[in-house]
Amino acid sequence: MSIKTYTLNGVTTIEIARPEKKNALTRAMYQSMADALLAANDDKSCRAVLIQGQPNIFTSGNDIEDFMSSPPRDESAPVFQFMRALLACEKPVVAAVNGAAIGIGTTLLLHCDLVYVADDARLAMPFVGLGLVPEFGSSLVVPRLLGHVKAAEKLLLGDPFTGADAADCGIANAVLPASEVANHARRVAERFNNLAPTAVRESKRLMRRHSVEQLTDTIKVEAELFSARLRSPEAMEAFQAFFQKRQPDFSKFD
Ligand code: COA
Repeated sequence: MSIKTYTLNGVTTIEIARPEKKNALTRAMYQSMADALLAANDDKSCRAVLIQGQPNIFTSGNDIEDFMSSPPRDESAPVFQFMRALLACEKPVVAAVNGAAIGIGTTLLLHCDLVYVADDARLAMPFVGLGLVPEFGSSLVVPRLLGHVKAAEKLLLGDPFTGADAADCGIANAVLPASEVANHARRVAERFNNLAPTAVRESKRLMRRHSVEQLTDTIKVEAELFSARLRSPEAMEAFQAFFQKRQPDFSKFD
């Protein structure tokens, strides 16, 4: 089982647990996470959702083998269902990040409400390096948070960045020692047990309503490009290079 979910003391935890593949996310895992988010949304005993990985890895992003063998075709794909459920989740979503959070591992944080990162966290959005484009609103949210030139380091060059950088630029709330992140995030999530649930839900909706339309439009445009790029020779070269443990060679493309 590579996604564990359980609800305890008002918090629904979604734990990514596929450490042998660095928590790479498969279609089945996206589907489980989508189902868990939808269930949490309807579960009256759930006051907040906590997304976490393993003590040394959050996620290495989309499973690259899945990208090659069954790329998402349309909005019914499990990855869309997961991101749609995350964006629509009325309950507060808290994330605890240890180790690497690559690709969608960083993208999903942009849509959480409270994000805590370890001092050993390593975030990256290496889409261009894989022959791809940014996804699920990152081309809108990252430049908004960082400004264009700093966003270009992360989205065009794909430079990785630390937990401290993530907190500095507003992607994360705080950096904590690696051994404390999960407990701290859980304690924050449990604070919602003492808050008025309808006021929390309505406040979350108010905070997001101005950007919903633009975000939805951006996600649609990104998805069309991303889907086409997944089938491109540039992406195939990058995926094969990953499994052959070599650098991709883009010199033949124009
Ligand atoms: N998809 C599929 N398999 C993955 C994966 C991914 N995203 N990330 C890691 N794996 C697999 C590796 O192929 C390897 O499998 P193997 O043991 O059968 O050879 C195993 O997980 C361990 O990965 P490895 O790269 O050896 O671990 P590492 O500690 O040296 O590096 C990462 C960890 C996360 C830095 C590195 O795995 C990585 O960069 N992964 C890809 C990130 C990425 O580009 N994601 C897609 C973003 S859109």
